[in-house]
Amino acid sequence: MSEASGQVLVFPYPFQGHINPMIQLSKRLSKKGVTVTLIIASNNHREPYTSDDYSITVHTIHDGFLPHEHPQTKFNEPQRFINSTTRSLTDFISREKLTSNPPKALIYDPFMPFALDVAKDLGLYGVAYFTQPWLASLVYYHINEGTYDVPDDRHDNPTFASFPAFPLLSQNDLPSFAREKGSYPLLFELLVSQFCNLRRADLILCNTFDQLEPKVVKWMSDQWPVKNIGPAVPSKFLDNRLPEDKDYDLGDFQTEPDKSVLRWLASKPARSVVYVAFGTLAALSEKQMKETAMAIRQTGYSFLWSVRDSERSKLPSGFVEEALEKDYGRVAKWVPQLEVLAHDSTGCFVTHCGWNSTLEALCLGVPLVGMPQWTDQPTNAKFIEDVWKIGVRVKTDEEGFASKEEIARCIVEVMEGEKGKEMRKNVEKLKVLAREAISEGGTSDKNIDEFVALLT
Ligand code: UDX
Repeated sequence: MSEASGQVLVFPYPFQGHINPMIQLSKRLSKKGVTVTLIIASNNHREPYTSDDYSITVHTIHDGFLPHEHPQTKFNEPQRFINSTTRSLTDFISREKLTSNPPKALIYDPFMPFALDVAKDLGLYGVAYFTQPWLASLVYYHINEGTYDVPDDRHDNPTFASFPAFPLLSQNDLPSFAREKGSYPLLFELLVSQFCNLRRADLILCNTFDQLEPKVVKWMSDQWPVKNIGPAVPSKFLDNRLPEDKDYDLGDFQTEPDKSVLRWLASKPARSVVYVAFGTLAALSEKQMKETAMAIRQTGYSFLWSVRDSERSKLPSGFVEEALEKDYGRVAKWVPQLEVLAHDSTGCFVTHCGWNSTLEALCLGVPLVGMPQWTDQPTNAKFIEDVWKIGVRVKTDEEGFASKEEIARCIVEVMEGEKGKEMRKNVEKLKVLAREAISEGGTSDKNIDEFVALLT
């Protein structure tokens, strides 16, 4: 490890899908000699924790909610979250400034634009870090600028929406909040307001890499100080330069995965298993869960499905038991997804197209069957199918429901169709580009170095 060159504060939006890419950037910074303080806004105080492997200390600050209140309450009462967290963050930074290694920069998630104001007002560099791709974020940018009008009723939407540097987007390709006014008004506000004060940011980072979204990146870089530093996926699955970086964990607060599924996978032939997972938040309707289960059953492939406890009761009765008994499937509440995607037996990934899952599949060369649910996922799915051509998107009816025939058709196409072979070749090419970007001297690696130089 090189000599410490300063302290940087890292402030993720407190959702796992946003925290993970922040942790990964923190690890890279730590190995380049920067001391990192990861600040988590929470309603549960935890004693500060310092990682054994990295110069990273995790602190919690109070988010204004009581310990018994559900973490998602902050969605319903954003002003309470903003007011309290602004105060706690200000106090925290003010105290840190009095230490022997005062922070020079705050890397924050633009879901919390107030953090940029706090950083700038306290004399720190303000660094926005978009953990979602430019694809979706740029749509929100145009809404904030007034150059794209979200219709009152989605049926009034023009057939295609046109944005600079983008392919034409149909209504179904837009991030869900940008389809119709009034659907999730608080979340809409949160996403669009990412850009409200972004001009104050000294630097803008994104969890992507230049070669993945070249046109969009060029368009962004022409007007903003943008540096792409992704993919923020553990080093073991990319460049392998950080030997201890095998997962998103810092050795403290992640869910323990069920590793027995790896032994089961090892008992199956190469590329024969369909891996299914819908991330940390998306909740499919009970009808859609049952239909998906029947689709998988219908294909006859072996499957591994990550189903959170809250979702498990939506599976058809007897489905899990029969798969276990006949040894063609496993359902686990949390699997080591990176290891699963890296496994020879995995043939395709049925996914909600969350950005972390998308990047992971791409880094590990696994073609995708996209079943996007909301937020950035439909736009990611559009790029997966039509731009990168590394997967197919399941077609749905007006209500967003996908039939078992359609899901099964997509799985079979990716597993053994001619198009599936092309997708596999394309994803292999992106895998190489992803590794190059983060390897020594690659575009993302250089961008991280340039950021570190700013701190010295
Ligand atoms: C959320 C949003 O839903 C998504 O659209 C946005 O891009 C990021 O934030 P999330 O639902 O958490 O994402 O999905 P995703 O971004 O794909 O992240 C899921 C993470 O959980 C991945 O890193 C994946 O490896 C991990 N995971 C998931 C496991 O390790 N094990 C599992 O069993 C399931």
